[in-house]
Amino acid sequence: MAQDLLLPDSILPHLKSHRLGTTIHHFLETGSTNDAARQLAEQGSPEGTLVLAEEQTQGRGRLGRSWLSERGAGIYASILLRPVLKPRHTAILTLVAAVAGSEAIEQACGLRADIKWPNDLLLSGRKCCGILSEMQAGGDVIRYVIVGIGINVNHSDFPEELGRRATSLRIEGKRPYSRVAVLCEFLLRFELLYDELQRSNCLAVLQRWVDRSSFAFGKQVTVDLGSGKRVEGQTAGLSELGNLKVKLADGRVEEVMSGDIVAWR
Ligand code: BTN
Repeated sequence: MAQDLLLPDSILPHLKSHRLGTTIHHFLETGSTNDAARQLAEQGSPEGTLVLAEEQTQGRGRLGRSWLSERGAGIYASILLRPVLKPRHTAILTLVAAVAGSEAIEQACGLRADIKWPNDLLLSGRKCCGILSEMQAGGDVIRYVIVGIGINVNHSDFPEELGRRATSLRIEGKRPYSRVAVLCEFLLRFELLYDELQRSNCLAVLQRWVDRSSFAFGKQVTVDLGSGKRVEGQTAGLSELGNLKVKLADGRVEEVMSGDIVAWR
């Protein structure tokens, strides 16, 4: 196990990305790597700074949820980006991270993870990876974005309630995997897609998401929009900003910017 700690010395020899992950801050324990990355961003840390923790005591998920961060079992990582993008394009950045995660898991472990909009990775219908992007912007200019990713790599089980919805690469592949290998593959693939996005190639990266997600078209979904509102219908692709298009029973198409797919078939 010791050689698989996510220490800079273990990662740097395997790093294939050129900018993401060249500066690494490693914690045995921290509240949330996203918070640590935000502090570093405010202190002027460069783009690509990577914050890693073996354990998070206050791991955060989307929509105010918490993220279970068992010591040494998963990847708990945050990347600091200073993108040249309009704030409205940051949603696509999050979709890009999901594509990179799915590609990395396939390359490093041979497991094909589906993407549930916007950015949950599923194996056998259960979640193995989540992404939380947080942005600081002033007017129409992005100061920085923190992309936080949690991957359940070597968890052998989960607390009962969570176990109905969560899984790990180890549970699905029936063997442990190298966190270093998954992480380095993720950083490479994310960097390539991120560069493509900044070359204004939004449509190309959205197509990569569509190609990897069974949720893109023809899935019957219920989307929780918060505040007691829900949308039900059949998925009909993504808008150019990465919103989910849902065709309602009356034929109208609604674009969902933010929400949670709570039921699907
Ligand atoms: C979600 O699916 O709700 C998003 C989960 C994101 C979890 C990661 S773990 C590393 C980073 N630090 C956090 O506190 N959250 C993200």
